[in-house]
Amino acid sequence: MALFTRNLVLVLFLLTITLCDAGISIHRKRRHVRVKNFLQLNGTLFTLTLHCKSKDDDLGKKVIPFNGSWEFDFIPHFLGATLYFCGFAWPGQFKWFNVYNDDRDIDRASKFQWSIYPPGPCRVDWFNESIVEGTCYHWNGEAL
Ligand SMILES: *[C@@H]1O[C@H](CO)[C@@H](O)[C@H](O)[C@H]1NC(C)=O
Ligand SMILES: *[C@@H]1O[C@H](CO)[C@@H](O)[C@H](O)[C@H]1NC(C)=O
Ligand SMILES: *[C@@H]1O[C@H](CO)[C@@H](O)[C@H](O)[C@H]1NC(C)=O
Repeated sequence: MALFTRNLVLVLFLLTITLCDAGISIHRKRRHVRVKNFLQLNGTLFTLTLHCKSKDDDLGKKVIPFNGSWEFDFIPHFLGATLYFCGFAWPGQFKWFNVYNDDRDIDRASKFQWSIYPPGPCRVDWFNESIVEGTCYHWNGEAL
């Protein structure tokens, strides 16, 4: 009986390690996020000042001209709950948006772009920049 219990504990232990490893390899795939400035209103082109952070990573302030872009990459934390949020400033405006959130983004493409428009960001394909359906958001994250 004691031997059986010990073996059962060992099996559960190995199973736990295997499941954790699988979780880590899914979550730890490197992510690439590009932010591109399409801020234009009535023919006026705006420069975007962007400042992105996570809980333990401050990516600093970036100044992005109209039609310009900036990108960063990271490996999501293996326990999940990785969140990158940015402040977006242009004349007369200051907005927030979560550019990466495990809950929303973990199952999507590992490389993607946010195209930034005055009403909010739209998620687009990294390579051809076409809008991924249903992924235009209001500032602060509410889907349009
Ligand atoms: C931009 O133009 C639209 C009409 O074309 C007008 O309603 C709006 O007030 C203008 N916005 C600004 C900020 O000038
Ligand atoms: C935006 O940049 C691309 C190249 O990156 C260029 O082909 C295009 O003409 C630019 N558009 C504007 C409106 O500046
Ligand atoms: C852009 O690429 C995505 C993913 O590969 C594809 O689903 C989509 O049809 C492409 N769109 C265009 C306009 O080529």
